[in-house]
Amino acid sequence: MQRKWVVWLLLATVLVSAGAWLGWQQRHRLNADAPLSAQAQLGRQVFHDTSLSAAGQQSCASCHLKESGHASAHGLALGGPDMKSLGTRNTPSLRYLWQNTAMHLNDEGKAIGGFFWDGRADSLAAQAGEPFLNPAEMANADKASVVAKLSRASYAREFEQLFGATIWQQPDQAFAAMTQVLASYQTEDPDFHRFDSLFDQVMQGRARFNAAQERGWALFKDPHKGNCAACHTAEPGPDGSPPLFTDHSYDNLGVPLVFPPTVATSRQPPDAGVCKHPLLRGQANANTLCGSFKVPSLRNVAVRRAFFHNAVFTDLRDTLAFYATRDTDPKRWYGTLTRWGGVPKSLRANVNRDEVPYGQRAGEQPRLNEQDIDDLLAFLTTLTDADLVPRSASPAGSVAAANAVVRGAQRVASPMVAANR
Ligand code: HEC
Ligand code: HEC
Repeated sequence: MQRKWVVWLLLATVLVSAGAWLGWQQRHRLNADAPLSAQAQLGRQVFHDTSLSAAGQQSCASCHLKESGHASAHGLALGGPDMKSLGTRNTPSLRYLWQNTAMHLNDEGKAIGGFFWDGRADSLAAQAGEPFLNPAEMANADKASVVAKLSRASYAREFEQLFGATIWQQPDQAFAAMTQVLASYQTEDPDFHRFDSLFDQVMQGRARFNAAQERGWALFKDPHKGNCAACHTAEPGPDGSPPLFTDHSYDNLGVPLVFPPTVATSRQPPDAGVCKHPLLRGQANANTLCGSFKVPSLRNVAVRRAFFHNAVFTDLRDTLAFYATRDTDPKRWYGTLTRWGGVPKSLRANVNRDEVPYGQRAGEQPRLNEQDIDDLLAFLTTLTDADLVPRSASPAGSVAAANAVVRGAQRVASPMVAANR
């Protein structure tokens, strides 16, 4: 009798949470076929226009490829006037950013929000201005030269219709309008927030994880095992919004340098990440944040080809193994150098040593074994949006395996069996 009640209770919980979820999606008109606004349509053209770069060969879409989940196909990107300048940071995914906010300090004084790995841009529009002028990216000399190119674009008339025929005489305003339409495109186009991964379907009671994915999901949330959800939030928001797999905070994971450092990079100061943000200037804890980078969403992580802010890993399984054995087998990650040898000296004191999955000693048994890492990998493949599933895999030749995992999830008719939260 008691058991029956438990089953009913579980079923009710699932139905309520699936209902809240669907309600949220409907309220936000996600996945709706609503046409893009004129601004967003213009933004789409700008996003794909290579003529707006100094080399004439690069657009936003060249680095943020749709088929890679709007991330890069290979991490660090080449750009500049001759397409020979190599950037120093990994090209992140542009999906699931549309509700991100400017950086602010929460009640505990923790930095939350912001765009870029170091949170320096306050909005999508503020962000969109930077690549045009970044000498290692689209490399234009100034705003006026971007606007001059814009005024010659095939869609220049549409731009005038929206912002007035005299807009070209006001380069600053024209440049700002261009960043606004780019933001509108990334906000409105449903591709940037599809919420149609296998994970979402499971949460809505429309599909079921297979055994490996189920084990990975449990490890992901277990505070004594993966503890991934402590930063990569896996719970729906208070308004029923689906989890974004980031809490928008910053952390220093002790990510190794990209080896071998070239002469040029070894002379440069280490990438200090978020601590240079103006909001933190004068804050007592600002220095302890040096070396911290934004927690990225893990949605579509299985289609990415490079991981962490400096793209040091090119295999997702290595990235997970790093979490598992950074402290128990530091030589594997930092080479023959001593512990933290791969982390610039000035940043070593700031590395997160306490939080699970960290905090063990060299030689100890890692909290996550090889099987656990495989299971976490299987879970992460469920976070791939439906439009990307055929390519979902790490580059280590496991394309077929990862696809089989995703396809292998059993489809079920009733929400009852999805009781997994
Ligand atoms: C040369 C490759 C390249 C080009 C071209 C490029 N980006 Fe990026 N994008 C990057 C890299 C690298 C970063 C991370 C840089 C950093 O954090 O300092 C980034 C970061 C971003 C972010 C922040 C993501 C986050 O998680 O906060 C957004 C949004 C973005 N780009 C949009 C655009 C738009 C819009 C354009 C076109 C105007 C564009 N990018 C052009 C490589 C590129
Ligand atoms: C204490 C917070 C924290 C915990 C716990 C945590 N992460 Fe992360 N994760 C981060 C931060 C911060 C980054 C970016 C670090 C950087 O690039 O320097 C990151 C990056 C990643 C990336 C690379 C994503 C990309 O696009 O480059 C993966 C994959 C990842 N985490 C998976 C996991 C898994 C799996 C777990 C659990 C075993 C986990 N994380 C636990 C904070 C955390």
